[in-house]
Amino acid sequence: MAHYVINGGKRLEGVVTISGAKNAALAIIPATILAGESCLLENLPSIDDVRTLECILTRMGATVAFTPDGSMRVDPRGIRDYNVTFDMVRSLRASYYLLGALLGRYGYAKIALPGGCMIGQRPIDQHIKGMRALGATVTVENGMVTARADKLVGAEIYLDVVTVGATINIMLAAVGATGQTIINNAAKEPHVVDVANFLNMMGASVKGAGTDVIRVMGGRTLHGCSYAIIPDQIEAGTYMVLAAATGGDVVINNVIPTHLEAISAKLMEAGVKVIEGDDGREFFMRVTAEQIRPRPVNIKTLPYPGFPTDLQQPMMALLSVADGNSYIVENIFEERYNHVPELRRMGANIEINGRMATIDGVPKLSAAPLYASDLRAGAALIVAALMAEGESQVHNIGFIDRGYEYLEQKLRAIGADIRRVE
Ligand code: UD1
Repeated sequence: MAHYVINGGKRLEGVVTISGAKNAALAIIPATILAGESCLLENLPSIDDVRTLECILTRMGATVAFTPDGSMRVDPRGIRDYNVTFDMVRSLRASYYLLGALLGRYGYAKIALPGGCMIGQRPIDQHIKGMRALGATVTVENGMVTARADKLVGAEIYLDVVTVGATINIMLAAVGATGQTIINNAAKEPHVVDVANFLNMMGASVKGAGTDVIRVMGGRTLHGCSYAIIPDQIEAGTYMVLAAATGGDVVINNVIPTHLEAISAKLMEAGVKVIEGDDGREFFMRVTAEQIRPRPVNIKTLPYPGFPTDLQQPMMALLSVADGNSYIVENIFEERYNHVPELRRMGANIEINGRMATIDGVPKLSAAPLYASDLRAGAALIVAALMAEGESQVHNIGFIDRGYEYLEQKLRAIGADIRRVE
């Protein structure tokens, strides 16, 4: 398998442009199934997860084509197969959105339980609770979830945990239900809002996305549309951490600054300079690290607008060289510390006690061969390898390819010494 060879210790400087949001794209592509016509999706990231969804939709009978600028046109009218097998979804968490979209459109779906990063139990009980509340019969057998309904009817649903996946999935199914659905204790992440905006662009009525209560008036006939996906909050945050970690000065273009408030606040607390700007065409962030070692900071991962769990791992790599003790509490996923043994092999001093990590900052990390265990662990190892002087190799980069568009090219353009070895 391919790996990265990284010569760290170099200051990153220059401009990087953020791609479309992975987690929005992975919901919006399945949501096209709800349309009665073709949809054009712009600002899609060119990442493996998008290509996997393209293959799945094509195998189901949809027509999927890319325009020269990388936009994706999806025409769902040819879909005849509502079954999605495990070999199609083994690497993809977001395959569960096919359940809500197919159920909403055709009243039937049979989907293999989703794959994706191993960062905790990741049950889908809230998705199932929501579909059942809408009147679907849902069974889980032999690793497959089957949902069927002669008629979906809107309902009031209270989510027991704040979950992005279930919030979006219930929205998708509710668009196909008759009458009003109310989702209480909904997730408020930027991609939840983006999916709602896309559904509304197709003619749906989804109100309240971005708050705790989402109201969907279902049963409308949806039409095709063109839609541009929001910039990726997590990719932007990763480059912000990278700028800080290399004592760099990086302008990060194509961002929505409010989506980055939690990471900006923590970087500023760590002594990093973060400036928001608007060049007249788009917003940007400029991140400049003026001191060699960051100040220690404490982080609790929380649903949006709290600190995102997806940036906990890259941030821990940065804090491993902080001038003092930092504490991280991972509240979202119980096993999201698989990057820690790798950081320790680079000299980091990190103790894990349940959901709490104590990071006793060391002056510097040393280069090492590293193995990514999941997507954001991979991002953390890239941060660590770019900080450490000498040559590191980052293996298992298939995980990173799932979620970061042109990582190597973007990093090289801002001065990183990174090459991919096939
Ligand atoms: C999505 C993102 C992932 C991100 C996460 C949290 C995608 C494809 N993935 O994952 O990158 O880290 O949001 O922002 O968008 N839970 C239940 N029952 C359920 C569903 C979830 O108990 O039915 C729990 C989960 O185990 C977890 C928490 O709720 O502890 C949040 O999960 P959720 O927000 O659903 O995350 P994902 O959709 O899996």
